[in-house]
Amino acid sequence: MNNTFLQACRGERTAYTPVWMMRQAGRYLPEYLKVRGTIPFLDLCKRSDLCVEVTLQPLRRFAMDAAILFSDILIPIEAMGAELSFHEGQGPIIANPCRDAEGVGRLKIADPEQDLPFVQETIRLLRRELDVPLIGFAGAPFTCATYLIEGGSSKVFYETKKMMFSQPGLFHRLMDKISETTIRALRAQAVAGAQALQLFDSWAGVLAPCDFEIFVLPYVRRILRKLGDLNVPLIYFANNGATLLDMSARTGANVLGIDWRVDIGDAIAKAGPMAVQGNLDPLALFLPAEELKERIGRLLHGARDACGHIFNLGHGIHQLTPPDQVRLAVDFVHELSAR
Ligand code: CP3
Repeated sequence: MNNTFLQACRGERTAYTPVWMMRQAGRYLPEYLKVRGTIPFLDLCKRSDLCVEVTLQPLRRFAMDAAILFSDILIPIEAMGAELSFHEGQGPIIANPCRDAEGVGRLKIADPEQDLPFVQETIRLLRRELDVPLIGFAGAPFTCATYLIEGGSSKVFYETKKMMFSQPGLFHRLMDKISETTIRALRAQAVAGAQALQLFDSWAGVLAPCDFEIFVLPYVRRILRKLGDLNVPLIYFANNGATLLDMSARTGANVLGIDWRVDIGDAIAKAGPMAVQGNLDPLALFLPAEELKERIGRLLHGARDACGHIFNLGHGIHQLTPPDQVRLAVDFVHELSAR
């Protein structure tokens, strides 16, 4: 069993820097596209046998030090009552966006045993196959709230911020319900065998720090506090989170995920005695081999004083990335960090 990833999460000394990549299973892999050719995305997420296959695909090709459960952050949101669909090239759509008291009132708190049994089943099956740790995950409540309120992806988050500023009580009630669902979903994942848990806050970076502090931080803190007894490393990743780093480091997470817009040394100085995960620009995987190696070397050097470093991209891998470049990056990390 390769435990390097878990050791780094705990701030222990490791033989080399462990690496995995956000969205490491997905459309840049021809074998993923082959599976997807047979089944719509949402149906795929509910088929444990296929989720196991797709989770394992990147591990067959690359020497990743962790696996991440194949699922989606919107799966628990659908279980709360969102009419979710995915459309080719458009991303997720929620047909019944939640914008008033009635909409928030109608949402139910999901029960993972009843509503998401396929997630736990995927985890149990994966644990029999894997010789690296398995990461479970959920969307952080603000990111989930944006999809519920906007009805899909957004650029300006007009509806979300309108609710936040004109009906703050309602927004808090929505965050409360999503957080309760998230706590239950992540607990069920850990009980089923997930060995670390990551909260993805993909859109937190659109908020002013003062609003993050009031409308987001308390919920992230509550979720992580309620999972503390599970004894698995908790990772919080706020994308575009440069201005939120101080608060992100105070969420109770054990590992701070860092996007690529931040210098890793600066992030480590702010994180203090906690592990960091990141933060290569996903598109830097398009660099020629020698420059990629040099860039990875600089990143590893910048992270030399971290209390645990897990190498990752600064956000999800781009779907046009050549798989051979991923292999190069993973192997460079291992080669350059060997102690
Ligand atoms: O390999 C892994 O990282 C595990 C699987 C995973 C997926 N989504 C599979 C997926 C994970 C961890 C996620 C997280 C996720 N989902 C996030 C947070 C991370 C981030 O990227 O910011 C968000 C915001 C979502 C919501 C979501 N799901 C969107 C916006 C989209 C469309 C994106 C696009 O590029 O079209 C998805 C679909 C999705 N989730 C795909 C995959 C592999 C592509 C679906 C397909 O096969 O067409």
